[in-house]
Amino acid sequence: MLNFGRNRAQPRSNRPLSLGGMDYSDPKRKNNVVGKILLAATLTALCIIMLKQSPTFNSPSPFSLHEEGMTHVLVTGGAGYIGSHAAMRLLKDGYRVTIVDNLSRGNIGAVKVLQELFPEPGRLQFIYADLGDPKTVNIIFQQNAFDAVMHFAAVAYVGESTMNPLK
Ligand SMILES: NC(=O)c1ccc[n+]([C@@H]2O[C@H](COP(=O)([O-])OP(=O)(O)OC[C@H]3O[C@@H](n4cnc5c(N)ncnc54)[C@H](O)[C@@H]3O)[C@@H](O)[C@H]2O)c1
Repeated sequence: MLNFGRNRAQPRSNRPLSLGGMDYSDPKRKNNVVGKILLAATLTALCIIMLKQSPTFNSPSPFSLHEEGMTHVLVTGGAGYIGSHAAMRLLKDGYRVTIVDNLSRGNIGAVKVLQELFPEPGRLQFIYADLGDPKTVNIIFQQNAFDAVMHFAAVAYVGESTMNPLK
């Protein structure tokens, strides 16, 4: 006959309290565990305090705000031939530039050169994104305050533009 009743080898009061495989009945181990929890909590609190004190924690990105005297230009296809030169010209002339490119054709090296030439915060940001995705485009426009758009993103080689004009 099957016996579904519990067969207690030890009385309840003598069994050690086991949680997650740890034996909490031993006071030394209990202290050790409490110490570790306290240490983890203290470290977490310290991390939060340090993060909150960092200058970028609460301040919004300069790219998300319109700033008087600063024109923010979205350069699509800015990793490409024409777009990267346009971005360079804009940056040299003091504009704030956001490049959006999916790197399907362009060269991330061109963007890196621009980032090295204009490292100041709020001058140049690069967003890796596909402009063929309307949701992504909406998010980019929600999160950034553009004053102008220069649209160079394209699949524009002569051969393919005649072979597959709708791409
Ligand atoms: N190169 C020329 O001499 C020339 C002359 C006149 C006009 N144009 C026009 O300028 C534009 C750019 O030409 P280019 O020579 O710089 O081309 P390019 O291929 O060098 O640059 C196009 C950029 O667009 C990006 N891109 C393509 N599809 C994308 C997408 N869905 N989302 C995000 N990024 C995307 C590519 O990754 C690439 O970096 C085209 O419309 C072209 O017809 C070019």
